[in-house]
Amino acid sequence: MMRRFTITTPIFYVNGAPHIGHAYTSIACDVVARFHRLNGDDVLFVTGTDEHGQKVEQSAIAQGLAPQEFADKVSAQFRQMQKEMAVSSDDFVRTTEERHKKAARALWEKVAENGHIYLGAYEGWYSTRDEAFIGEDEVKLHADGTRTAPSGAPVEWVREPSYFFKLSEFQDRLLKFYEENPDFIGPMGPKREIEAFVRQGLRDLSVSRTSFKWGIEVPNDPDHVMYVWFDALANYLTAVGYPDLDAEKAHYWPADVHVVGKEIVRFHCIYWPAFLMAANLPLPKKVFAHGWWTVEGEKMSKSLGNVLDPKALSDEFGLDQLRFFLMREVPFGGDSNFSRRSMMTRMNVELANDLGNLAQRTLSLIAKNLDGILPDRGELTSEDQAILRQADLLPDLMSGQIERLAISDALEEVWKLIRAANAYIDHQAPWALKKTDQKRMSDVLRVLYDVIRSIATMLQPYMPDTMSKMLDQLAILENEREFASLKVIIPGGRHLPKPQGLFPRFIEEEKA
Ligand code: ME8
Ligand code: MG
Repeated sequence: MMRRFTITTPIFYVNGAPHIGHAYTSIACDVVARFHRLNGDDVLFVTGTDEHGQKVEQSAIAQGLAPQEFADKVSAQFRQMQKEMAVSSDDFVRTTEERHKKAARALWEKVAENGHIYLGAYEGWYSTRDEAFIGEDEVKLHADGTRTAPSGAPVEWVREPSYFFKLSEFQDRLLKFYEENPDFIGPMGPKREIEAFVRQGLRDLSVSRTSFKWGIEVPNDPDHVMYVWFDALANYLTAVGYPDLDAEKAHYWPADVHVVGKEIVRFHCIYWPAFLMAANLPLPKKVFAHGWWTVEGEKMSKSLGNVLDPKALSDEFGLDQLRFFLMREVPFGGDSNFSRRSMMTRMNVELANDLGNLAQRTLSLIAKNLDGILPDRGELTSEDQAILRQADLLPDLMSGQIERLAISDALEEVWKLIRAANAYIDHQAPWALKKTDQKRMSDVLRVLYDVIRSIATMLQPYMPDTMSKMLDQLAILENEREFASLKVIIPGGRHLPKPQGLFPRFIEEEKA
């Protein structure tokens, strides 16, 4: 039976244009979603935009637009960014859509009906930039009298009637859940941080606001709009058709993994499971937090003017090159820094030299010395067997890593094979065999062909367009590109099209 697999990105605030950080999360989820599809799984990959709340309202006002008009504009930019990054999401949820309002209200009603919401008054600090209530003990007072949240965002004193969610009642249930599901939070750092935070005790959570209007009305009390995080987290249910439990997509719940940036782990690992428990709904299997990108060593910010536009980068370096770099540069979970130097080095060394040359050398020898006709497999030496075995092991090895969201480790496995294949080709020197042993030359080229086919097949999730071209050059048919098809040996005799270099070297001078 097909395994169903549900993966989500955070839904992004529409208060500003998409940048490389948003593209990063989206591409990482895309790689995992594509990997599962090629593995034969039934995938639902959801993304979208978070359009309510004070922050978005303020940004709209600053631009002189009505919030809805502003949200329409920026949400469209996110959709466009995903298209430009080849992000293959199956759904794009906007929180201003009717289906979402229905889901968020239904979730609220269920939680209230089960006795977990009460009316009170909130008095305390609020950070609009984080859209978060900040505890007294977390607020930092500066010498100039201003106060900030742990994120560095300014806080303001808020005092208004509010509905509260009885989060305090979920402390024990959450701790028990973390204990019984040790893989729920990844990686280790955020996991420890969340468990420690919950162990300290949880306060009830304010889940509505009355001081502004841009949000989803609380059922039966139109003076209140839902706290934007209650609204936003519900998007994951919107995507599966909640509250219609017979919806076509209902079987995609619970999600297999919510991928998020590390700054929003608390919302996903404490509030979200508590809301779901309160509504008697199944909990997601995993929340995975990745790290943050800086640019040339600096935090990205509008005031520094160093916010990276993913489209400009893909125009300059190539889309698959950019996707590769982002997935390769840092173990998924860690922080990283974007530098042009490092981008160029990886392009030139790992793509142009390691992979590009391997394919180009092999395919041009087949074109030149074998008239472009794929030979049958010959008798295998122990070296042939060793490299073919390494290629055969790749799909299972990578599956295990993708399962753990070790997206860059999985890529490293491919590079181990590429390096082994380069050592093999240098050692076998098929170009020299042309004069001494034509049969052996043909056998070696066939081994290399099979190894390159494995590499190109397994790299499809990371570099879909370039690997599609590489598979075309290998004369692999459209219906032979799933991972399972690697088990079937391609018969000799296929005519390979004339090979073309797929990974140009990047030369900085040429640009100037
Ligand atoms: O938090 N490096 O939306 P948001 C890496 N609407 N990833 C980055 C990044 C960076 N420098 N900057 C942003 C929200 N991201 C809420 C989420 S979910 C129910 C609601 C990515 O627009 C990263 O995934 O602030 C981060 O978590 C997300 O964008 C935050 O997007
Ligand atoms: Mg943010």
